[in-house]
Amino acid sequence: MGRELLFFTKENFIAFRMQKKEEGVEIISITDYLQNFDKISEIDDDTQIVDITSIASINELQYNAERVFPLFNQNTLFIADKKTEEILSYNLRYCFEEFRDLVVPTHIDSPISIEKIMLKTAPNHKKIVDLDSSQLKDFLLSFFNHIYGQEKFKSDLSDLINSFRIFNKLGEHKILSLFLMGESGVGKTEVARAIHKCLGGKKKLAKINFGNYSSDNALNSLIGSPRGYIGSEEGEIFIRVKNSDTGLILIDEFEKANYMLFNYFLDVLENGKIVSSQAEEIDLNGFIIIFTSNISKDDFEKNISPELRSRIDYKCLFTPLYNEDKLKFLEFRVNDVIEKIKEQFGAELSQEIIQEIIDKVDVSKYSNMRDLNKMIKDTFVKYLITNGLYNSH
Ligand SMILES: Nc1ncnc2c1ncn2[C@@H]1O[C@H](COP(=O)(O)OP(=O)(O)O)[C@@H](O)[C@H]1O
Ligand SMILES: [Mg+2]
Repeated sequence: MGRELLFFTKENFIAFRMQKKEEGVEIISITDYLQNFDKISEIDDDTQIVDITSIASINELQYNAERVFPLFNQNTLFIADKKTEEILSYNLRYCFEEFRDLVVPTHIDSPISIEKIMLKTAPNHKKIVDLDSSQLKDFLLSFFNHIYGQEKFKSDLSDLINSFRIFNKLGEHKILSLFLMGESGVGKTEVARAIHKCLGGKKKLAKINFGNYSSDNALNSLIGSPRGYIGSEEGEIFIRVKNSDTGLILIDEFEKANYMLFNYFLDVLENGKIVSSQAEEIDLNGFIIIFTSNISKDDFEKNISPELRSRIDYKCLFTPLYNEDKLKFLEFRVNDVIEKIKEQFGAELSQEIIQEIIDKVDVSKYSNMRDLNKMIKDTFVKYLITNGLYNSH
């Protein structure tokens, strides 16, 4: 069979690229190879498809094309933008035997059409870019009260948000992306919970935990499987975003992701939208995406691809809390629990008792706030039982 060139439209290109990505096949541009013919032999036609759109704009197209195409492996698949059809099908008439439109294979029963690509903005999501200045002030204040310690992050966050709000309006910054690193239990996930709450989120925060993903099927789990495949049709990220009411996505344990997911997020940050395997889109303009990870700064460089790293607006290493911040957390938690005890048991605890409980907990022993929290709970239970306020039988 002779060579053929397939023309794609902008719409079916997105779906095609997604599908190929899931099959482990990437689409590469011919541009690099036009500058270095030797590299052509490195192309793997099992995992790479060559997009030759850019060749349409070179000089002496027919002459150059007839020199370059014989160098490609006979099985290489070539595609090009439909807009170049006229010029390519004429000038490359000796390079290709056939010129056809690209049909996205698993969508044969329902070809992707423009109508299918619904660009849904997320109008019901409260976003940081939509707050007026007094709302923003309140937001920052309540956020700062919510998170203990992490002073560097807190002071950087106001600057980041201010800049994001301006450049988002100018159409230059679609998504604010933050990468939070650091040990367990220092407030990384809590930052996302706090932002969600402070934006006025009543529904569930849109959270994806890559710790729960098996690497084999991760992209399918995230963005759904193509029509005709067995498994969930809708990806988790779509379900989560649709069920949330704030412009925030939390990606927890991001280090557990694989290169396909890294590539996917690279696309998301570049284009400001999520695209499902069925080419459904949700516009994330104005959203914040928080990635969290327990890796160290060194591992961050090792594990996350440079392209993605450079796409992330801000990275921060969360440090263990200082004792004075832990004490604040302790006081807050104790008072919180006391409120609840009052509601549940009708027991009013005196200020002295509160102080007694606080004194019992040695905050310097804990660097993970989850452990500290557990200690606070245990101390309460003991106190309630020994003082006959609660009968465990
Ligand atoms: N800096 C912090 N400010 C307020 N609460 C915190 C902070 N760090 C930890 N916590 C508390 O500890 C719990 C665990 O913190 P989390 O943010 O989930 O940890 P991780 O850093 O592992 O994501 C949270 O539910 C929260 O109550
Ligand atoms: Mg966490």
